[in-house]
Amino acid sequence: MTIIPSFPGNSNQRAEGGGRVREPSASQPAGRPRRSEVISARESAADQKVENSLRPQRLDQYIGQSRLKTILEMSISAAKKRGEALDHVLFYGPPGLGKTTLAHVIANEMGSQIHMTTGPSLERPRDIIGLVHQLEAGDVLFIDEIHRLSRIAEELLYPAIEDFVIDLTTGKGHATRTMRLSLPRFTLIGATTKAGMISNALRDRFGFPLRLEFYTCEELALIVNRTASILGVAIEPQAVQVVAARGRGTPRIANRLVRLVRDFAQYKGRASVDAALAAEALATYQIDSSGLDSTDRRLLEILIDSYGGGPVGIETIAATLGEDSDTLEDVYEPFLIQQGLVQRTPRGRMATPKAYLHLGRSVSSMQLSLDLNDTSASEPDAG
Ligand code: ADE
Repeated sequence: MTIIPSFPGNSNQRAEGGGRVREPSASQPAGRPRRSEVISARESAADQKVENSLRPQRLDQYIGQSRLKTILEMSISAAKKRGEALDHVLFYGPPGLGKTTLAHVIANEMGSQIHMTTGPSLERPRDIIGLVHQLEAGDVLFIDEIHRLSRIAEELLYPAIEDFVIDLTTGKGHATRTMRLSLPRFTLIGATTKAGMISNALRDRFGFPLRLEFYTCEELALIVNRTASILGVAIEPQAVQVVAARGRGTPRIANRLVRLVRDFAQYKGRASVDAALAAEALATYQIDSSGLDSTDRRLLEILIDSYGGGPVGIETIAATLGEDSDTLEDVYEPFLIQQGLVQRTPRGRMATPKAYLHLGRSVSSMQLSLDLNDTSASEPDAG
């Protein structure tokens, strides 16, 4: 078997449901999350360890994303009846909503192996060739952060995705030769938080481009209950609501909050988590009742207090906050927009009346700043 540089551990684990998993190893040690990591939807090493045990294995265990589940259920069933691999799938949407989990679920439902890698780790042609060389008929190839594939990697992948062949080039100059190799029919599952950064050529090669949505509070409550029961945490129904309401519509965050309230209860010597304890635990991490953390509130303060409600370019907000603009766009902004606290306009980001109310500012001050903005030159960087 070819050893692929992008899989440092080179370990083959068997996943429940029969899927053999090849995953890149985590580079960070596990540990307590920093405050800013509590709310971040990015996956930490600690998350990765626990999340593997919490992941639903089958579609019927998967909570939420009902539209997307129906599409997958129909297509998986049809592909199995025909004895074919499932068509290629592209999952896109904010981090932490279940793209990796769904890739595992698909492999389990299809009874196939899953090979996992990331866009940036497929840098050279031999990375791709080594990877596709291992594929067997019906396998799932999961490429996370697929928008970060190099151009060379992307072009090598096109015939592999479309016609299940790959062109190998050997030699140099006059001695260059191209050899076409056939591949077994496999399913590519791409995942990205930045659908806009995928070339049209790549996007068009996916049979199913599927967008993951934020979860409702009711769906998150079901997930919190499921997680608490797997982790053996005794949690009262009202405490479940407290955690779900602060989970930013994101299972990864809600599951992290379950672990935080569990630790807090243990620290306080309490056998079970009630609503007051859950609220106290999460307030310690400066998470407010809507799930906003100190960075979110600072972002709103910058918009409202420093720029009269906006519009403000993303680079300006990032520089003022001391965060990089990618993190703002991928991690913070989607939830603030979904909650109706921030609006994206061609001239930049704007605070909404709801944001003024959330920070306890009067909405009449918003009207005044809007009037001023109409006549003054607005901020140029509309990122
Ligand atoms: N754990 C994390 N995401 C989940 C989901 N969508 N359904 C059930 N359990 C989960």
